[in-house]
Amino acid sequence: MRLSQRVAVITGAAQGIGAACARAFAAEGAHVVVSDVNEVGGTSLVREIAAAGGMAVFCRADVGEKHDAERLVAHAVDHFGRLDVLLNNAGIVHAADFVDLAEEDFDRVLRVNLKGAFLCAQAAVRQMLAQPPRDGGGRGVVINMSSVNAVLAIANQVPYTVSKGALNQLTKVMAIGLADRGIRVVGIGPGSIATELLKTAVLTNEAAKTRILSRTPMGRLGEPAEIARIAVFLASDDASYLTGTTLYPDGGRLALNYVM
Ligand SMILES: NC(=O)c1ccc[n+]([C@@H]2O[C@H](COP(=O)([O-])OP(=O)(O)OC[C@H]3O[C@@H](n4cnc5c(N)ncnc54)[C@H](O)[C@@H]3O)[C@@H](O)[C@H]2O)c1
Repeated sequence: MRLSQRVAVITGAAQGIGAACARAFAAEGAHVVVSDVNEVGGTSLVREIAAAGGMAVFCRADVGEKHDAERLVAHAVDHFGRLDVLLNNAGIVHAADFVDLAEEDFDRVLRVNLKGAFLCAQAAVRQMLAQPPRDGGGRGVVINMSSVNAVLAIANQVPYTVSKGALNQLTKVMAIGLADRGIRVVGIGPGSIATELLKTAVLTNEAAKTRILSRTPMGRLGEPAEIARIAVFLASDDASYLTGTTLYPDGGRLALNYVM
């Protein structure tokens, strides 16, 4: 098991990609703190993981609240004694034309997708630096769930696109600042993955689905489990020389210029 004895906090883990990551981490032996603002979904996932023989607890936390971010890290330490992996996965979208976008909607998305990642990462890294390193020397890993929209753009997803671009820079700046202290910081930038968020944001009708698939050389949506397997790799010692970079499981999207 690649994550045995590791303690992992996953935000936005009640459903979608975060839930798939929680299942995969637990299956690889990690002790997982499932965190979300959705208490019903989060506690139900914890029961499911326990029934499958895994170890997980739930902690309700709004990633945009500093107090919640600190409480989340404390929850991991109280239950499992330390913290090895933070997966900053919570994310929201808001569709609007640039001209009509309201200031509060811009702030709301940036608060969760960017400031939330910063607050959770700062609380997590402070804990990682305060605890003894694991055998093998690593002190911890922070994984930021970015998007292909960090480097591409969707016209009516202004704050989302901006937040993911900035999240990639958070990955880089944290990575270089923490490299000599044994903490790796990496990102995952998925293409179109079959989740509730995708349905809300872009899969609003058949034409939208056709348009997305025409921009996806593999000709299908990704599954949350396909992202989770990459998260497991990044959290594990198999990725011991990887920091400051974002991997893009996107079915070939970023390699495509246009369809002939
Ligand atoms: N689905 C995709 O196609 C896709 C593509 C690229 C990137 N992503 C990214 O992957 C991550 C997960 O996306 P998903 O598709 O699973 O979304 P989802 O909407 O299915 O799940 C997101 C979860 O985050 C939680 N959440 C929202 N606000 C929160 C807050 N303030 N604090 C804590 N939790 C909060 C929600 O309750 C929900 O459980 C997001 O960061 C998203 O931007 C998704």
